[in-house]
Amino acid sequence: MSLFKIDQKKCKRDGICAAECPAQIIVQADKKSFPSLLDNSEEFCFNCGHCVAVCPYGALTLSTMPLVACPPIQKELLPDADTVKNFLQARRSIRQYKDKVVSRKLLAEMIDTARYAHTASNAQEVHWTVFQNPGDVRKLAGMVVDFTKIILPVITDVERAKRMQRLVDAWADGKDRVMRGAPHLIVVHSPADQPFPTTDCAIALTYLELYAFSKGLGTCWAGYFTLAAVMHEPLMKVLDLPAGHKCFGAVMVGYPKFRYHRIPMRNKPPISWR
Ligand SMILES: Cc1cc2nc3c(=O)[nH]c(=O)nc-3n(C[C@H](O)[C@H](O)[C@H](O)COP(=O)(O)O)c2cc1C
Repeated sequence: MSLFKIDQKKCKRDGICAAECPAQIIVQADKKSFPSLLDNSEEFCFNCGHCVAVCPYGALTLSTMPLVACPPIQKELLPDADTVKNFLQARRSIRQYKDKVVSRKLLAEMIDTARYAHTASNAQEVHWTVFQNPGDVRKLAGMVVDFTKIILPVITDVERAKRMQRLVDAWADGKDRVMRGAPHLIVVHSPADQPFPTTDCAIALTYLELYAFSKGLGTCWAGYFTLAAVMHEPLMKVLDLPAGHKCFGAVMVGYPKFRYHRIPMRNKPPISWR
């Protein structure tokens, strides 16, 4: 089956798909011809779907991307710039959670939205491990504390060592500064040999965090966990990631206990205009 199919009744020969194709494998000789694929070029298609998405007439499909699987953009639902700016400025890292679990349906919906995050070469190699059970999240926090105790004696950065010591002391005092008492943890991992796995995973988690905020949920990056997840054998065993995969990030998830009423200050961006 050919990868590329043009419905000649719908195609207006406007040349948009050929101009848009990032791999430049769609060609159109002139305004009288229909677009087509360059000979022997299918292997260079990275299935980004731009050709399908950009055609105003639904004239083009890929065998990997039927039109029914590519719904129209609901333009009336797109937020205006002020709405987006206010939304982005209002998101906060949440460290106080209600004693209430998030449904599996909603956790799945968050990941289903985050899968639309962009990835280098459209690799889409962002994998997810979801710890749904609050008891398991607490156990993971304990393992991170164990790891912190092990590495503390070799930390030479005094300030960092102080922060880590506080984390250990808090745990001994019954306070969880690792997972902040969040009921759930969502971990992202990717084959480590991808071109940009750290970036792909961070962008996907950012999508997830923003969507979570829009759904009234709270999230916070689990930085201590992410460090331990690539260095602490017992934790790596529990994570049990597929061979060749590495953890590139994790976020705590739950219902926030408090609401925010102001946007805190942030530094002026150091920009060098050239
Ligand atoms: C990579 C990364 C790791 C982080 N790790 C932690 C963490 O382990 N614990 C925590 O409470 N917050 C963590 N945070 C949250 C930051 O402290 C927070 O984003 C920052 O203070 C700004 O606050 P805001 O997110 O509310 O704007 C992390 C954030 C990032 C981006």
